[in-house]
Amino acid sequence: MTILFISGSTRKGSLNTKLVKYSYNYAIDNGIESKLIDLADYEMPIYQGDWENENGLPQDIKKLKELFFNSKGFFISTPEYNGFFSPLLMNTIDWLSRPETKDEDSLKAFRNKVAMIMAASPGKLGGIRALPHLRLFLNNIGVNVLPNEMGIPFAMKNLDDNGNLLDESLKKMLGNHIKRFKDFVAKG
Ligand SMILES: Cc1cc2nc3c(=O)[nH]c(=O)nc-3n(C[C@H](O)[C@H](O)[C@H](O)COP(=O)(O)O)c2cc1C
Repeated sequence: MTILFISGSTRKGSLNTKLVKYSYNYAIDNGIESKLIDLADYEMPIYQGDWENENGLPQDIKKLKELFFNSKGFFISTPEYNGFFSPLLMNTIDWLSRPETKDEDSLKAFRNKVAMIMAASPGKLGGIRALPHLRLFLNNIGVNVLPNEMGIPFAMKNLDDNGNLLDESLKKMLGNHIKRFKDFVAKG
């Protein structure tokens, strides 16, 4: 029941990537089968229908799709951009929702899978305004999203350069959410 850990930012020094790595390490330490994904390893253009008609799916999307097919859950942390989740995340998921052949169930990578969503931001709301939009987007493609979600506020202070989460109460809350997520994934 592998869980994919995905950051919605590929920025060097990304707060969300730090948070995803922290959460991934926590999951591994707690015996949860997990795989860390770096979206920088997957090249794709902005989705465009004519491009798709001419070229089909990008090779890297085919590879990523295989990983999504074979996973039961997705842990996603997104930056908040103007109250919304990142265009990188939306573009990647839009591509992943495209069938490779006419007969393929386009949402096979997502249907009945489960997700836990988070955000990290330098601001005091911790990026939580992005999360209802991400929840709806994932619901629309058949993903069940864990009711528990959280944002890490003042993330430049709360996450250090080694990716440690410094605030004890946030640490405890996140640990509890990840354990709940594991049970949620196991129930499918
Ligand atoms: C176009 C743009 C819009 C942004 N809007 C918000 C916002 O609505 N709320 C917020 O908390 N931070 C906002 N930010 C700041 C991001 O939270 C910050 O850049 C964050 O570090 C991005 O995530 P990352 O560190 O994982 O790359 C915005 C940044 C950009 C570039």
